[in-house]
Amino acid sequence: MADVHLVTGAAGYIGSHVVRALADRGEVVIGLDRVPLPAGLDGRCQFVPADLLDRPALERVLAAHTITAVCHLAGRIAVGESVADPSLYYQDNLVATANLLSAMRGAGVTRLIFSSTAAVYGTPETTPIPESHPCRPINPYGRTKRAIEEMLGDFHHAYGLDSVSLRYFNAAGAIADGTLVEAHQPETHLIPLLLDHGSGQRPGPFQLFGTDYPTDDGTAVRDYVHVVDIAQAHLAALDYVTEHPGAHAFNLGSGHGASVRTVIETVEAVTGRPVEVKRVARRAGDPASLVADPSAARRTLGWTPAYPDLRSIVASAWAAHPAQTRIGQGARV
Ligand SMILES: NC(=O)c1ccc[n+]([C@@H]2O[C@H](COP(=O)([O-])OP(=O)(O)OC[C@H]3O[C@@H](n4cnc5c(N)ncnc54)[C@H](O)[C@@H]3O)[C@@H](O)[C@H]2O)c1
Repeated sequence: MADVHLVTGAAGYIGSHVVRALADRGEVVIGLDRVPLPAGLDGRCQFVPADLLDRPALERVLAAHTITAVCHLAGRIAVGESVADPSLYYQDNLVATANLLSAMRGAGVTRLIFSSTAAVYGTPETTPIPESHPCRPINPYGRTKRAIEEMLGDFHHAYGLDSVSLRYFNAAGAIADGTLVEAHQPETHLIPLLLDHGSGQRPGPFQLFGTDYPTDDGTAVRDYVHVVDIAQAHLAALDYVTEHPGAHAFNLGSGHGASVRTVIETVEAVTGRPVEVKRVARRAGDPASLVADPSAARRTLGWTPAYPDLRSIVASAWAAHPAQTRIGQGARV
């Protein structure tokens, strides 16, 4: 009999790709989110509209299905917003996850894959960053994610919950058919913003936050990893946690840093269109450089990214962009 997986944040950018990867592997998927699913997931999962802050609703979902494991992607993700309004992040990340874990405990569900982030490390002391690097997050977003990782450790020791925290660096890219495009509300991610500005779908110049970082060209350096590769890592992590009890953590990144300027140039090269740029001050809570050492995920999970370079990631995002294909429009709410 196929396993049944619950995916929280199923309507989101990464969650929708995880649903798709699980369904494509033949698993039964229950997708939970407080906003409707994108059309690109039609027929791929059973949708449960629910808020993780609604504990009784969560308990009903877990009582109604025999869940093998949970992939927990629901949460808030914007660093700047977390600095301006941390309460939202303590609610939707920390309180929501505490609800989920106690409902799982009540229902006897003992496996979880958690969407963590490079933001748990804070300002890196070494680059690339291995999992053994100290975790000293410098913004409320990172602090909520780190607190959840620690909660997962405590729940393993006390209650036998087995988990893998996947510390994503910068998720980007799209699948070829354009049905699940990246579209956060509000959009704060670099590649979709550049594609929107370059294609004229977003008015005004692109705002470049910070040109005085201690990096080669003064702009912030990040490690971009394709969303399809992140989804595949969830499958590998589910297999791993089935055989290896514990509370594990793995970086998901390419191991290569790209500055904002490099990404702008790559977007211009891929689209053939110039992007008008306006330099502005640094954003609160943004470290200068975040680059993963992804070797543990490759070695231990057997994870091999299919999109190892920035250009192929940007090209996939552009191929699926609404300026190129009308299918992407309306795919997200
Ligand atoms: N996108 C990235 O580059 C990135 C990097 C590191 C970590 N992450 C983590 O990955 C996860 C998914 O990110 P994403 O880019 O797909 O974000 P997203 O905003 O596209 O998706 C998040 C989804 O969670 C849902 N959600 C939020 N709070 C909820 C609640 N209380 N109850 C029910 N649903 C709720 C939202 O409705 C949304 O559909 C997040 O946890 C994020 O912190 C993302």
